[in-house]
Amino acid sequence: MKRIIVQGSSRNNGNTNKIVKILNEYLEFDLIDLSNCKIGQYDYENKNKNDDFLATIRKIVEYDLVIFATPVYWYSMSGTMKTFFDRITDCLKTEKETGRKLRGKNMAVISCGSDNLENEGFFIPFEKSAEYLGMNYLGDTHTWIEENEPSNIVRQLIKDFSSKLKQDL
Ligand SMILES: Cc1cc2nc3c(=O)[nH]c(=O)nc-3n(C[C@H](O)[C@H](O)[C@H](O)COP(=O)(O)O)c2cc1C
Repeated sequence: MKRIIVQGSSRNNGNTNKIVKILNEYLEFDLIDLSNCKIGQYDYENKNKNDDFLATIRKIVEYDLVIFATPVYWYSMSGTMKTFFDRITDCLKTEKETGRKLRGKNMAVISCGSDNLENEGFFIPFEKSAEYLGMNYLGDTHTWIEENEPSNIVRQLIKDFSSKLKQDL
């Protein structure tokens, strides 16, 4: 079982990364940090085709499970993550072969906000995107960091989430 986390925070070692590190205590995975990648906005004329998107998605499609880890920015996924999803459109057009490889693969999502309020519908774009791409959506969990460190409740949520992912696959 090859697993990869795609981290979409605006900082490398912020709260989302703290959550990712805890998840890594329970689950082995490789990591792509989108903030280290130069990925431009979706462009109808593929003007960004030479940026890091294609190399990144070509790597991701080789995994069985892709876990997206995003902070909550303005009640939604981060702009970094959204740009990444917009660029998956390239896989429906110029990069179809890579797009096809996503079919039958598995997706899960973990979010990190500043409190335990999960915004209604937050995970729907992930769930629907998985459905559109022919991926199995294994579920999601919302986490948060109020002070500097995740609470025991959050640690337990992450542990439960990792157990669920192990169980489902
Ligand atoms: C641009 C921006 C928008 C935010 N919007 C929300 C929000 O809508 N709801 C929320 O709970 N927290 C919000 N926050 C707080 C972050 O979700 C929270 O601090 C998160 O743990 C940050 O993760 P990071 O360190 O990986 O960026 C926002 C933070 C930023 C920087």
